[in-house]
Amino acid sequence: MRHQSAKHVNTENMCRGGLPAWAYDNDEITELEKELVFRRNWLLVDHVNAIPNSGDFTTFDVADERALVVRGNDGVIRAFHNLCRHRGSRIVAQQQGNCGKVISCPFHGWGYNLDGGLRSVAKPQSFPEIDKSKLGLKPIEMEIWHGMVFVRFAGGGPSVAETMAPLENEIASYRIGDMLPHDKAWRFEMDVNWKAQVDVDNEGYHVAMAHPSLQDLYGPNYFDEVFEGNLARAVGTFDDDRERRLWSIRNYIKLLPEATHLPKSHRRAWIYHGLFPTSVLELTPDMVNFYQFLPLATRRSAIRGQSFASKDDSRQMRATRYLNKRIGRVTGEEDIQLIKWSWEGMRSSAFEDFFLSDLESGVRGYHDQLRELMPVLNLTEVPPPGTIAALNQELSEKT
Ligand code: FES
Ligand SMILES: [Fe+2]
Repeated sequence: MRHQSAKHVNTENMCRGGLPAWAYDNDEITELEKELVFRRNWLLVDHVNAIPNSGDFTTFDVADERALVVRGNDGVIRAFHNLCRHRGSRIVAQQQGNCGKVISCPFHGWGYNLDGGLRSVAKPQSFPEIDKSKLGLKPIEMEIWHGMVFVRFAGGGPSVAETMAPLENEIASYRIGDMLPHDKAWRFEMDVNWKAQVDVDNEGYHVAMAHPSLQDLYGPNYFDEVFEGNLARAVGTFDDDRERRLWSIRNYIKLLPEATHLPKSHRRAWIYHGLFPTSVLELTPDMVNFYQFLPLATRRSAIRGQSFASKDDSRQMRATRYLNKRIGRVTGEEDIQLIKWSWEGMRSSAFEDFFLSDLESGVRGYHDQLRELMPVLNLTEVPPPGTIAALNQELSEKT
């Protein structure tokens, strides 16, 4: 399926350098990123069907913010700051679970209703009269798009649906909103800057060399696209009859049931959509895998994700999905190595800059987005300590 209204970005005169190396290892940039990249953009938290019952919740931490997404007694999903109005403790500590009918703060025991209202205060006689209506949980802007729950901590701007409109037809065909969690959410941390993770993920030029499984699956039929409006998409098709070298790939292709709900062009394809800033939806005919990169500190980042799939639980589908996950796991391990090597390289005194291929336009496009938000990243030399935020502000006002 081609995108009716998505326009390709012209890469003919693309500058082939990347962000300056200093930008990957600078605490002042990390602070700017928290505000401009992470707090002001939509972030994918979970899927509505991962929290199907009242009291089911997911928590999500990023950029010094903490979100709590919880389903109420009325079936409505709401997002709040995971922050007690007494002294700011997180009111839910786990990543996922069920909090029953009341959310009890683990610090002193204040209780909140699932709709965020303050319900009870421990030892109320120790306080002057309390207006409970003023001390409910603070809401966070939330949007549900194709069953996926997004939050935005600050700022305004277009909705997820508006941003993704050019790709709407394609995404709708996967019926993600009807899917169920295929497995538990996963998360791990790495000692790297988050941008080193994203750079590796933003191009498929490395597939031929670094990902034997993907190369075997769709290697020659892979391409990246960057669209106007900050949308990126990568497509790998495997509707040919090449001999496959690896048993996992041979069997995946052999077992994959015909996904009749998808257009023919998508029944033998893996498609990756980047949702700015760092979420990726991997659309495959048998399941949808989501993953996301998050900064924890300048030199520490997290990766989290989960898979969602239709209710089809046939033996054939189970085997197909097992192989899908296996290919993903092997590929993920290979990417982790590449991320570590990229990150180490940037800190070497010999590192000068990237020299990007046409096949890495996704990296360039992403860096352009970051430079738009943080024009200070156009400077090749690191500015003096303590000046970066003000300088960025000044440069932003000029552009
Ligand atoms: S911080 Fe939550 S009850 Fe005290
Ligand atoms: Fe990769």
